[in-house]
Amino acid sequence: MKRLVVVGTQWGDEGKGKITDYLAQSADVVVRYQGGNNAGHTVVFDGNKYSLHLLPSGILNPKIENIMANGMVINPKAFSEEIAKVKRFNLHISNRAHIVLPYHIELDKAYEALKEDVKIGTTHKGIGPAYADKSSRIGIRVSSFIQEHKFHDELKHLMEIKNKELKSLGSESLDFDVVFNEYKEYAKLIAPYVKDTSYLLNNYIKEDKKVLFEGAQGVMLCLDHGTYPYVTSSSPTAASVPVNTGIAPWLLEGALGVTKAYSTRVGEGFMPTEIKSELANQIRIKGNEFGTTTGRPRRIGWLDTVVLRHSKRVSGLSYLAVTLLDVLSGIDELKIAISYDLDGQTIDYVPSDSDDFNRCKPNYIKLKGWSEDITQVKSFEELPKNAQIYLNTLSELVDVDIAIFSVGPDRKQTIRVKDIF
Ligand code: IMP
Repeated sequence: MKRLVVVGTQWGDEGKGKITDYLAQSADVVVRYQGGNNAGHTVVFDGNKYSLHLLPSGILNPKIENIMANGMVINPKAFSEEIAKVKRFNLHISNRAHIVLPYHIELDKAYEALKEDVKIGTTHKGIGPAYADKSSRIGIRVSSFIQEHKFHDELKHLMEIKNKELKSLGSESLDFDVVFNEYKEYAKLIAPYVKDTSYLLNNYIKEDKKVLFEGAQGVMLCLDHGTYPYVTSSSPTAASVPVNTGIAPWLLEGALGVTKAYSTRVGEGFMPTEIKSELANQIRIKGNEFGTTTGRPRRIGWLDTVVLRHSKRVSGLSYLAVTLLDVLSGIDELKIAISYDLDGQTIDYVPSDSDDFNRCKPNYIKLKGWSEDITQVKSFEELPKNAQIYLNTLSELVDVDIAIFSVGPDRKQTIRVKDIF
């Protein structure tokens, strides 16, 4: 495949960054297409650790063209901090992407503080309010942001409205001069990279370049198809690539769905297979299940194939990449959810209503675990028999072939089963 999207199939944090970084070695172009600095993963390059939140995963490789496409919301301050750590890079930022400003962050916090029972547990990065402004047509796009007079006038007008809103919510208002003077400097930093990235990307495709689209979050956090309202404000599906990058839908050749060998979730919202025993803590520590962006401990659950089939249906998954398989070593019995019980009925779908979803009880199959350390295996055949059975069962239940599995954080611990890109 020459144009592949990597998507998370669960609630984010599936290890997409690691898989993207691995596949990016043979990519010409890497494109981030949604979300903002609510995302996060760590990439190790030349012995140095980089935490990436906004920048595409190809940024550390000077041979790769990196695009931040129109579907993103970009926090200029976070961008300036992240880019300062990278030395040589090729970057293109869409003139149609939207800017996250301090009032978005303050509003995000204020809305969350006021919600009593239905806190979403957002990352407090201003993502929801920034996308809301985009939809309400009162957002500031990159093209306006880098024209100082335009940015000045748009910001002045908008801050009058936003400050009224902040005050009415009991928050402090923000000083226009302080925000403008700080952010106009970030605009100068961003300006050299700004272009029409749809135009650029379509030219790369005409030149037959290999393009990797990098999803952030996961399908279950999709604004439309996720566990609403406990979702993010963009669509992390493969289906959202065309509109969020400005390419024709039929130019995308396939989707690689990344799933952990178990489930995790941060923030609020139901996870049917959540493990409440001490085992959750054991997995959390072994898998280092703490958020890269917020440091919050992730909730842990058994693998849920109802969720994976949902992701396959609404997003499209050509292949699966299974991460963190090594974390399951040493657990005697492993469970995989195959359906839910909802009020006495067996169902094979994720209910749209959060109250219905809350009442779902998973039906499990049980598989024997393995005790061997698998962090050094180099092929599927080298895995203990029970680990092979676990992967094969997963693949059969979702009806998607596994192309990659991973047994540790290093690039070398990523095992390619099929050559897909
Ligand atoms: P927001 O995207 O900050 O508005 O947060 C909305 C929900 O999505 C919260 O439950 C967050 O914890 C979750 N979320 C956002 N980004 C990520 C991510 O990159 N990984 C996992 N969860 C995320």
